[in-house]
Amino acid sequence: MKHDLKTLLFGALATLGAALALAAPAAENWENHCAKCHGADGKGQTKAGRKLQVKDYTSAAEQAKFTDADAIRATAEGVKDPAGKERMKGFKDELSPKEIEELVAHVRKFKS
Ligand code: HEC
Repeated sequence: MKHDLKTLLFGALATLGAALALAAPAAENWENHCAKCHGADGKGQTKAGRKLQVKDYTSAAEQAKFTDADAIRATAEGVKDPAGKERMKGFKDELSPKEIEELVAHVRKFKS
């Protein structure tokens, strides 16, 4: 019986470990999914970023224009212009809600 509990616990821990390994850290997700437009440093000074005129997220004034909830929604659902044309795609199929939340915290750290 004692042994069974140990096996069970070990199994549960291994499952938890696998689940954690699937979620990439925010810095890695930023590099892989966001830096192309927003820049590694959040300034948006990349070819795609300049073309799309992304905002400079090191600016406190720019960051004050959206709430965390706005940013989470934008990252999950995407951003459209007033005419309904997609400016940024949504990432809810690629990233978990937790990863998105952590990415928003990552965005907040760019602010000087
Ligand atoms: C194809 C280019 C592109 C990629 C890739 C991209 N974005 Fe964006 N993003 C934009 C554009 C364009 C806007 C709208 C202009 C702005 O606010 O800078 C925007 C806006 C935002 C906003 C502001 C939302 C608001 O409410 O004002 C956040 C936060 C954001 N992006 C986060 C992310 C995160 C996190 C990723 C990666 C998972 C990402 N973006 C990937 C182009 C991109």
